[in-house]
Amino acid sequence: MEPEFSVKLARSGRVIPVYPHQSVLEALQDDGVLIPTSCHQGVCGTCLTTVLEGEPAHWDLFLTPQEQEANDRFLPCCSRSNSALLVLDL
Ligand code: FES
Repeated sequence: MEPEFSVKLARSGRVIPVYPHQSVLEALQDDGVLIPTSCHQGVCGTCLTTVLEGEPAHWDLFLTPQEQEANDRFLPCCSRSNSALLVLDL
């Protein structure tokens, strides 16, 4: 199966594939990258992560439309990516 997109961890340079059946959060967890979470539904904002490059596909209900348009943060428990690679501040 082809990954839907990948995320790159800026601090280590590691690239982690994200498959259609998993969330970004799950892909990160499977690779040992643990992010604080709570709701897993894009509501609470606990998993908020800074995006350094790429265009997230926002599926959350936490960020305002203006904040979503800035594309500098996203919620990896539910949001995905419009670009082939998202570089995260992790
Ligand atoms: S865990 Fe609540 S928004 Fe991601």
